[in-house]
Amino acid sequence: MLKNRLKISDLHLPEFKEKTKRRTLLVFILILIIICLFTIVWNRGMSGETVVTGNDCYENRIAITFDDGPRKSTTSALLDGLKERNVKATFFMMGENVAKNEELVKRAFDEGHLIGNHTYTHVQLCSLSTDKAYDEIVKTNEEIKKVTGVCPKYIRPPYGSYSNKLLMKINMIPVLWTVDPKDWNTTDSAQIVKSVVENVHCGDIILLHDIYPSSVAAALEIIDQLKAKGFVFVTVDQIILD
Ligand code: NI
Repeated sequence: MLKNRLKISDLHLPEFKEKTKRRTLLVFILILIIICLFTIVWNRGMSGETVVTGNDCYENRIAITFDDGPRKSTTSALLDGLKERNVKATFFMMGENVAKNEELVKRAFDEGHLIGNHTYTHVQLCSLSTDKAYDEIVKTNEEIKKVTGVCPKYIRPPYGSYSNKLLMKINMIPVLWTVDPKDWNTTDSAQIVKSVVENVHCGDIILLHDIYPSSVAAALEIIDQLKAKGFVFVTVDQIILD
């Protein structure tokens, strides 16, 4: 019996090997197709997610923001440079500087820049009573509204200091930053440029101060270099979600 069985198996062995080879090849091709399909679907899903979120990495957007101004000489030069480059920026202005430079504020607004609040006298909001902090903010909003006709919606609290209780009361959106070259600490424009250009990613909010000539020079160079890399400058309302 055993002898017979062995003989039968031997007879069919080449055919059996051929079938196994074909099956293995088929399974291998099927696995490849499944991997390819999975990769395509996964990639589509990922890019779809980026577009839907819209606030992180959409169309290479970044925002450049300027605090503590406006100041006649430096902010004028900055506005000239932004106009030449067709770039819209965000300015967080101090109320006392708005009162002294109304024409400059009007120009920034008319040229399409977003104007936000940076308190009246650059106070650390958490160190004040809620009433005093509220006054600092409301007075600044009134100065800006007097010039532009629009009440600011966004606030950058000096030193990033604020309380949720105060925010509830003023009903404004706080805007912090993600790239800080500490431009107030140096007059070396090249150092400011390097610090920003080497660390920036899409969706970032760059913090600069338009009251220093070195910061204005750096800002324009940053814009030129990042535009050449494909970044698109927008105002902060186009980066953060309302
Ligand atoms: Ni400031």
